[in-house]
Amino acid sequence: MNPQEIDSSIPVAVSRALWMARDNIIVSDVSLSIPQGQRVVILGPNGAGKSSLLKLMGLMMPPSSGHVHIFGHEPWVESQSKIRHVRSRIAWIPQGLQVVGRLSVLNNAVLGCLARVSPLKTLLGWFPEEEIEKARQALQEVGVESLSGRRTDTLSGGERQKVAIARALVQGGDILFADEPTAALDPVASRDMMQLIKRLSQERGLTTVTVLHDIDLAMEFADRIVGMSDGKLVLDLPTSEVRKEQLDRLYHHLSPVEPPPVVKMSATAVLGKGSAVLRLLAGRAPSAEKTPPQKP
Ligand SMILES: Nc1ncnc2c1ncn2[C@@H]1O[C@H](COP(=O)(O)OP(=O)(O)OP(=O)(O)O)[C@@H](O)[C@H]1O
Ligand SMILES: [Mg+2]
Repeated sequence: MNPQEIDSSIPVAVSRALWMARDNIIVSDVSLSIPQGQRVVILGPNGAGKSSLLKLMGLMMPPSSGHVHIFGHEPWVESQSKIRHVRSRIAWIPQGLQVVGRLSVLNNAVLGCLARVSPLKTLLGWFPEEEIEKARQALQEVGVESLSGRRTDTLSGGERQKVAIARALVQGGDILFADEPTAALDPVASRDMMQLIKRLSQERGLTTVTVLHDIDLAMEFADRIVGMSDGKLVLDLPTSEVRKEQLDRLYHHLSPVEPPPVVKMSATAVLGKGSAVLRLLAGRAPSAEKTPPQKP
């Protein structure tokens, strides 16, 4: 794919992306394109390369080879300022959340504006009033505004998760990348979290790419399932076309796409073929009705 071919309305387009670390191929030759507003879930066993692929798509690191386009731009080959600009359209919920326990809930949420505020000001803890207001709104949107003044390390796991989403909303953007946002949550809180992400994607037209380990949640909330195994993309289907066995195979490091079935010839087919061969040997043409249709 070359940059001119990428439609600027496509939030994410990855083409033949490869990422190596310490001479190991971690992400191998992955290509996929994600349209506006789609909810994609990436599944796969531990170490499959899901977080690494997410980081490539979210401009956290450049591919070793191949291309990553965000809204038609290929920031890594354009400029540093393009990388910064395109990153401002991306919101992140990283694996492990990375909320700062000793800070208040409001201060954690406001950290989402870091890319827009000078580093000196943020070091001094000075944030523009409009960013603080955005943080308040985001906390309200995810339903934890009443916790604004609490130290974040006094929250439950589910509440902390919501603070991480609020911070991502303050970051702003058109694409949300979330790496295991339901980790350590109970089944009810996990479903709440995914419902929240779904609601945000519908209300804001957000394109979302979420890494999950819960197959049922994935099937419930995704429009599209992407399966990774050993660094490779081994499954990429609309959720309605995914079968449970394919996902079971994925977690057993087996190819979820089964090889084509072996065609077994019936006895009559074998006999029929045999009789055609016999007729040929006898110098007679095979009968017309047994002649397979010829390709044009
Ligand atoms: N910076 C790095 N240097 C070396 N190896 C790395 C680096 N980052 C990731 N890896 C390796 O790449 C593989 C894939 O890692 P990744 O974090 O992408 O997996 P994952 O599918 O997200 O796994 P999990 O489900 O456990 O989070 C792992 O074996 C990991 O150790
Ligand atoms: Mg991971």
